Amino acid sequence: MSKTILITGTSSGLGKLTAIHFAKMGWNVAATMRSPEKETELTAYSNIQLFRLDVTDVEQVQTAVKQAIEAFGTIDVVVNNAGMGAYGALELAEEQAIDWQFAVNVRGPINVIRAVLPHFRANGGGMFINISSYMGVTSAVPLGSLYNMSKFALEGLTEGLYYELKPLNIELRLVEQGGSSGNNFINNVVWSTNPDIQDYDRLTAQMKNLFEQAGGADLDDPQTIVGVISDLATGKSTQFRTLVGDEAHELVRLRQSVPIEEFLETMRKPFM
Ligand SMILES: NC(=O)c1ccc[n+]([C@@H]2O[C@H](COP(=O)([O-])OP(=O)(O)OC[C@H]3O[C@@H](n4cnc5c(N)ncnc54)[C@H](OP(=O)(O)O)[C@@H]3O)[C@@H](O)[C@H]2O)c1
Repeated sequence: MSKTILITGTSSGLGKLTAIHFAKMGWNVAATMRSPEKETELTAYSNIQLFRLDVTDVEQVQTAVKQAIEAFGTIDVVVNNAGMGAYGALELAEEQAIDWQFAVNVRGPINVIRAVLPHFRANGGGMFINISSYMGVTSAVPLGSLYNMSKFALEGLTEGLYYELKPLNIELRLVEQGGSSGNNFINNVVWSTNPDIQDYDRLTAQMKNLFEQAGGADLDDPQTIVGVISDLATGKSTQFRTLVGDEAHELVRLRQSVPIEEFLETMRKPFM
């Protein structure tokens, strides 16, 4: 019998590519997104079904999970992929942006995991693959504290859950990639700004410039990340954490090899 994967945030980027990859492998795909009525690509696959799911809406998450189980009979693997970035100086961030960062990147996976757990327990097992970032393992740039916070929290959530879900044969995996091409992440970043406070202007300009310049060879091929997710879902890899990409490996190696004070100053240097 075909296996079934439920993926959040499949309207673009990694989520969409992952949905297509698993459909091509013959899996049933519950492709969830906030606005399924706008989707035109995934509808071409007979083994992909679309479900409306905003990860911040507990009721909608529960409904979508129920509908996916009804449609496919089961869910074997869940990919918590939906995410966004709130960047900028913490002092300048709108209250709403702070809450939204947590709501999407942390509360979202919590909502999905809690909705799927009764099914996984009844099935005698399952797997959650949580899409983190190298920003979940280390800081790397200025003005990313909220995004860092959200991915560090996702890492803590995942690690903490290990102890209660392992006895139930429910596996947890973390994918920690850097920037990749072919997604809307940078376009969707919410920047905090306040024209009355100029103390963060220089850093903000530097960071916006860095984001605008990011591209080409600096970015990872998203298919590499899809390949990692595929290996985890199929059991080819059993790694709890998978770092993806040269930049991620380099950063984490540095973070682990020098005292934190030295790491922070090294990362700050290009912005001085
Ligand atoms: N791109 C990078 O540089 C990078 C690096 C490391 C980690 N990541 C992580 O990789 C994951 C995928 O991002 P991506 O690179 O593929 O960027 P992306 O193209 O912006 O994809 C993000 C997806 O999340 C969805 N989403 C946002 N808020 C949502 C909500 N409340 N409920 C449901 N879905 C929501 C978006 O849907 P809408 O179309 O409805 O907005 C979109 O489908 C994210 O968790 C991100 O944090 C990205």
